Amino acid sequence: MLKRILAKFIYFVIVKYPHKTYNFYCYLVENHKELILKVFEIGTNQHAGWRRELTEIISNPKNPWQITETTMHYGILPQQTLSPWLLDKEFMRTYAQIRGSTCIDRYRCYELWALAKQINGIEGDILEVGVWKGGSGSVIAKAQPNKKIFLADTFAGVVKSGPNDPCYKNNEHADTTESEVISLMKQLDIENYEILSGIYPDETGRNGPKKISLLHCDVDVYGSSKDIIDYCLPMLSLGSIIVFDDYGFFGCEGVTKYCDELRSNKSFHFIHNLNGHAIFIKIQD
Ligand SMILES: C[S@@+](CC[C@H](N)C(=O)[O-])C[C@H]1O[C@@H](n2cnc3c(N)ncnc32)[C@H](O)[C@@H]1O
Repeated sequence: MLKRILAKFIYFVIVKYPHKTYNFYCYLVENHKELILKVFEIGTNQHAGWRRELTEIISNPKNPWQITETTMHYGILPQQTLSPWLLDKEFMRTYAQIRGSTCIDRYRCYELWALAKQINGIEGDILEVGVWKGGSGSVIAKAQPNKKIFLADTFAGVVKSGPNDPCYKNNEHADTTESEVISLMKQLDIENYEILSGIYPDETGRNGPKKISLLHCDVDVYGSSKDIIDYCLPMLSLGSIIVFDDYGFFGCEGVTKYCDELRSNKSFHFIHNLNGHAIFIKIQD
């Protein structure tokens, strides 16, 4: 009886708040896998169907939720399971050390790691705008020791939010300092970096890279994304890669909108990686 009431309650919460449930589910899968496994076990032994039914509700395209007029969402749960990071000891060691200093999940961190390893033959330095506590920046720096990485952040939080950004109001993620990033780099023995402290490009652009092979743009809002790309476009080498974080994320509609606009620029191939990365590869000037 109690179980049935609980099941009905969970069902109600999922149907009523699909995006919140989905975010919570992703959090559990990422941080408490053992708990999910336990639920799986219960699902197979005693309540076959429970788990399947719940995931089907979240990931059923018939149960989408809409944030803006042009964006539809439903829970995407990839079916493939290949996880090369588990065999990559250096990545796993690095990720374990930076885990508390990043908002980015293991899958996106591994993608940055794998992309950074592929840019040896591409001219230019690396630029990350949106460093926060230094997590993703150190993953990239560690993966690509042959290049210098510029780490640009206001260290005072998000700037340039506007009407395209329903959640961000400026100053979010201000809970960090330049010295926190420096000490993380020291802990990881990373020396191939330079910090640009201030709004990029307005205050620090001229001190940054002159040629770019990889740009990681993780700034949460439309205005900053646009200004960064407008400024960096002439510096991007042929074959260079731009990785936008937050593409398709609930609350980061401004970033999704900006990436969708950039898709009309014929200098790039666009890849919508379903993990929340939008990737642009420069194919012509
Ligand atoms: C989500 S956090 C970055 C997270 C980080 N990449 C990680 O590993 O978790 C976004 C950061 O972007 C920074 N930011 C936003 N717009 C900026 C701009 N135009 N110039 C410099 N920093 C900016 C904010 O200060 C904030 O620290």
